[in-house]
Amino acid sequence: MAFILYLSVLAGTFFSAHSSVQKDDHAPYLVYLKSHFNPCVGVLIKSNWVLAPAHCYLPNLKVMLGNFRIRVRDGTEQTINPIQIIRYWNHSHSAPQDDLMLIKLAKPATLNHKVQTLPLATSTVRPGTNCLLSGLDWSQDNNSRHPDLRQNLEAPVMADKDCQKTKQGKSHRNSLCVKFVKVFSRIFGEVAVATVICQNKLQGIEVGQFMGGDVGIYTNVQKYVTWIENITKNK
Ligand SMILES: *[C@@H]1O[C@H](CO)[C@@H](O)[C@H](O)[C@H]1NC(C)=O
Ligand SMILES: *[C@@H]1O[C@H](CO)[C@@H](O)[C@H](O)[C@H]1NC(C)=O
Ligand SMILES: *[C@@H]1O[C@H](CO)[C@@H](O)[C@H](O)[C@H]1NC(C)=O
Repeated sequence: MAFILYLSVLAGTFFSAHSSVQKDDHAPYLVYLKSHFNPCVGVLIKSNWVLAPAHCYLPNLKVMLGNFRIRVRDGTEQTINPIQIIRYWNHSHSAPQDDLMLIKLAKPATLNHKVQTLPLATSTVRPGTNCLLSGLDWSQDNNSRHPDLRQNLEAPVMADKDCQKTKQGKSHRNSLCVKFVKVFSRIFGEVAVATVICQNKLQGIEVGQFMGGDVGIYTNVQKYVTWIENITKNK
């Protein structure tokens, strides 16, 4: 059964069509950015820093870590307030470029099997490399605004020159493109495929406009490592 969540704020339209079998996959670095607006996903890169898309700069943001399922509490759940949010200096609302921000947590997260940090990629990956798309999704019985399930899927990274030939890729600087292969019978939403992880490192993070089709476009995290390290070092 498919459902569409239409959230008028920030022109977010999310599609989600459930496959018959949903698994709660292991992706302990994913955090849920809870607000009254769009559902957003970030990645825990240090125990007190989260990397997220800049369009997730929303009022009353709370960072949720650990288990997201309401019915199965397991003691890993944590909710931490941000104390500082720094958007990438060149980010602008009118362009899908440089869509990154750093969230400093009021206190470090307690790491456990469902709360882990993920290192940043510092180099490009070979085109064709199969990477993990990690994101949050709604479990079948969840009609809430808040996703509660982690999902992982595999997809190959495209060559930059092929990426530039696509409608989505050419309008984006510092992009990383992923080919959604046929096997995915689902229609993806942004939240469901929020991050690209290659060789256990964070390579890409979702951009503001999910454009559909069979190409996923992400911000190429590796191009921003200097900025990220500078802000998060010794803090
Ligand atoms: C800053 O962003 C604007 C708009 O996307 C772009 O034209 C410009 O080249 C960017 N500057 C740098 C230094 O990346
Ligand atoms: C769906 O998930 C959200 C967030 O965990 C929760 O608040 C809500 O109660 C869940 N709904 C159901 C039906 O489990
Ligand atoms: C590092 O951050 C400081 C303070 O935010 C800034 O003044 C400096 O220019 C930054 N350096 C680099 C290399 O980005």
